[in-house]
Amino acid sequence: MSATSGLILAVESSCDETAVAVVRDGRRILANVVASQVALHSATGGIVPEVAARAHLRWMIPVLEQARVESGIADWSELEAIAVTEGPGLAGSLLVGITMAKTLCWLRELPLVPVNHLEGHIYAAWLLDPAEEEKPAPEFPVVALVVSGGHTFLVEMADHMRYRLLGQTVDDAAGEAFDKVGRLFGLPYPGGPSIMRAAAGATRHDRVFPRAWLAQTFDFSFSGLKTAARREVAKELGIDVQGMGSDAQDLPWSAVSELAYGFQDSVIDVLATKTLRAAEETGARTIVVGGGVAANSVLRQRIEDDAAARGIRVVVPRPGLCTDNAAMIGAAGFFRARAGTRAGSDLAAKPSLKLAVPEPA
Ligand code: KG4
Ligand code: ZN
Repeated sequence: MSATSGLILAVESSCDETAVAVVRDGRRILANVVASQVALHSATGGIVPEVAARAHLRWMIPVLEQARVESGIADWSELEAIAVTEGPGLAGSLLVGITMAKTLCWLRELPLVPVNHLEGHIYAAWLLDPAEEEKPAPEFPVVALVVSGGHTFLVEMADHMRYRLLGQTVDDAAGEAFDKVGRLFGLPYPGGPSIMRAAAGATRHDRVFPRAWLAQTFDFSFSGLKTAARREVAKELGIDVQGMGSDAQDLPWSAVSELAYGFQDSVIDVLATKTLRAAEETGARTIVVGGGVAANSVLRQRIEDDAAARGIRVVVPRPGLCTDNAAMIGAAGFFRARAGTRAGSDLAAKPSLKLAVPEPA
C-alpha cells in the first residue's frame, strides 16, 4: 500500500454510466473510462433501473481493466485509496460499484473512501486532462451550481468539502425538465443535448417561455415549463391541450427548433441570473458549474460572459467531465481521503444521500 502516492482509483455507477478512473492528487487524470448506457435506454426513452444495474454488472470489469491499462500503473498496490460513489442514485446501480470497490480494497488492503456523487460533480472543476497545462484550482470562497438529471442547487463553499446550501429546485431538476420537454417535442433521449442542437437551428427567437423567479430566494422551479411547453405544442398543432396525449408529438422541425430555443433560453436565464447573484452576494472568488446540464454550451457561455463582466472567475469542466464520470469521484475522493474519510466493508448504497441541507430558519 502506498499511503502518500496521491493516486486514487475511482468507481462510479450511480445512474447509467459505468465508469472507472485513476486521478493523481485530486487533479491530474491518468485514466478516465466511461461505458455509456445511452443507446440501451434510448429505446425506452428513459432509464429502467433493473436494466441499468445489469448493464453495470456486464461492463464493470472490462471498464476497470481498461482504466488500469490507460493509467499506465503497473500494480494497484501503487494506489493511496479507492473512492466510490455511495449515493445518491439508483440502489441497484450503486451496489455494483460499491461491491467492486470493496472487493478491490479487500484484495489490496487499501482504504475505501465513500464519495457523494454531487460532491463529485463540483470537484470535476479541479480536474486536468492528461496533456493539459497546470492551471490554478478554483479559489475559495466558491459558489457552485450543480445542474444534473436529478439535482439542481446552489451551494457556497468556504473551503474544501464545506457546503452551505443557498437554494435548490422545489420541483424538477433542470436536466429532468430538458429530458421531459425533449420527449414531448419528439426529440431523441436524452433531451438535453437534443434540445441544445435543435435550439441552435432556430431562425425565430420570439417564442418566450415563462421564468419562475421565486423572488428573494436562490430556489428554482422548472415544472411550470413542462406545462408551458405542452400549451405551446397544442397551439402549434391547433388542438386542445386537454386532449393531447403524453406521448411525443409530431411537430414540424421549424417549430421544434423555435420551441427548443424558447425553452432553453428560459432555463438558462434563470440558472445564470441566480448563480451570478449568489456569487455577488456571498463575495465568491470563483463560480464552479457541474452536472450534465453544464455540458450545455449556451449555459456555459452565458455564465462566463456574465461573470467576466463582474470580474469573477468561472470554472466549468469540459463537457465530458460535466456528465457522469469517475474522474470527478477521484478528485473529490482525494480530498476526502486526505481528510481521513473512510468506510468499512459494511458500506451501503445511499440512494437519497444529500450534500447539504437547508439551515434552520
Ligand atoms: O450529471 P448527469 O450526467 O447525470 C445525473 O447525475 O443526473 O446529467 C444528466 C442530465 C440529463 O438530464 C441530460 O439531458 C442533461 O444532463 N444534459 C444536458 C446536456 N447534456 C446533458 N442538458 C442540457 N444541455 C446539454 N448539452
Ligand atoms: Zn450526475
